[in-house]
Amino acid sequence: MNVLILGSGGREHAFAHSIIKSPLLSKLFVAPGNAGTHEIATNVDLGITDFPAIKAFVLENDISMVIVGPEAPLVEGVYDYFQTEELQHVNVIGPSQQAAALEGSKEFAKEFMQRNNIPTAAYQSFTKETLKEGMAFIDSLKPPYVLKADGLAGGKGVLIIPQAKEAKESLEEMLVGGKFGAASNKVVIEEFLDGIEMSVFVMTDGTSYKIMPTAKDYKRIGEGDTGLNTGGMGAVSPVPFADDVLMQKIEDHVIKPTIEGFAKEAIVYKGFVFIGLMIVNGAPEVIEYNVRMGDPETEVVLPRISSDLLAHLHAFAKAELHKEQLTIDSRSATTIMCVAGGYPENYDKGMEISGLKNVEDSIVFHAGTALKEGKIITNGGRVMAVTSYGSDFKQALKKSYQNVEKLHFDKMYYRKDIGFDL
Ligand code: AMP
Ligand code: GLY
Repeated sequence: MNVLILGSGGREHAFAHSIIKSPLLSKLFVAPGNAGTHEIATNVDLGITDFPAIKAFVLENDISMVIVGPEAPLVEGVYDYFQTEELQHVNVIGPSQQAAALEGSKEFAKEFMQRNNIPTAAYQSFTKETLKEGMAFIDSLKPPYVLKADGLAGGKGVLIIPQAKEAKESLEEMLVGGKFGAASNKVVIEEFLDGIEMSVFVMTDGTSYKIMPTAKDYKRIGEGDTGLNTGGMGAVSPVPFADDVLMQKIEDHVIKPTIEGFAKEAIVYKGFVFIGLMIVNGAPEVIEYNVRMGDPETEVVLPRISSDLLAHLHAFAKAELHKEQLTIDSRSATTIMCVAGGYPENYDKGMEISGLKNVEDSIVFHAGTALKEGKIITNGGRVMAVTSYGSDFKQALKKSYQNVEKLHFDKMYYRKDIGFDL
């Protein structure tokens, strides 16, 4: 079959890397892709939310599966767009627009969890009209205070504030001052959860599900989890503290009620569910849902799936995922993200990357890279993720760092302490 992947990051390169191994694949296209996907697939110059252009390409190239990497096309309804007679033979891997609101609206996600008895922090949501009540709610909570813009705010919409006075000021800036634009017309205020974070990834065809490897990512730019938030600076899989007892709790209290909730509420969901968890005294609480795979988590999760990923996704079309056997590699995998100096604020693009050919026993997943006159250059803040396997995460990290040191571009930066808290 011919497959199209939408997106251009390390996540999409990791998808391509797994899928080209499948005997079911004929041709693989990535739109728009990067210099890494160019080496193993055909890059296509399409906008990921330009649905008419995607449709034309899919029909011309006899594509029978579209794998959606990032959230934007999902939130804009790419799944629904394909439910016409002309396109319904195409297996879109990604949830419906209604389901994508689990990521697109914090309030929708919280209400879904409440209705389905899924453990999550206590909360209330407020608008400009209920600002006063919001301030009173802050007074009723213990510090620190967690304020979340309801809508998509590029990963920046969550504030954790130690003092009530500052929390109230921020609430006003969000609701009245337009701090996050329309995304903060509504604000969810929730109880602070004191625990340790991890993520689980689940694939579902809408009726059955498979639990994929767990992962933990490192979002801050600075060592020791300091400084600005980024898309993610590295990741480790599995999460060493996620033992069988904890995983059983996560499956029983979070995963099962989530998938059953979709069916009960007629939410059409065929894709990946990325569940961000806080483990509080050994019990999982859901911090957030994302309706796609994480980046850079995908760069450690997919390399640990040793069965045929494309076959698993193909089974979604007939809701036959239950017949598939997902096999997980027992080794650990780690990835280190190499970023442009200055990221996540201002940074340069167009620097030549060298050393790629010297990498041994690691996989370099390209993120922000491009080809120019035969050379591989940087084309984004997060440039490439270096993934390695090891008997445990420390061995894997050692290999990733050995190979990162062979790579170079002007002002390249990476965190040297991924996994420091494990
Ligand atoms: P989110 O965008 O919802 O993933 O939130 C960003 C980050 O804020 C999370 O990764 C957590 O580290 C933190 N966070 C979110 N909600 C809470 C909460 N209720 N208690 C403590 N930390 C939280
Ligand atoms: N690495 C976090 C995310 O993809 O949302």
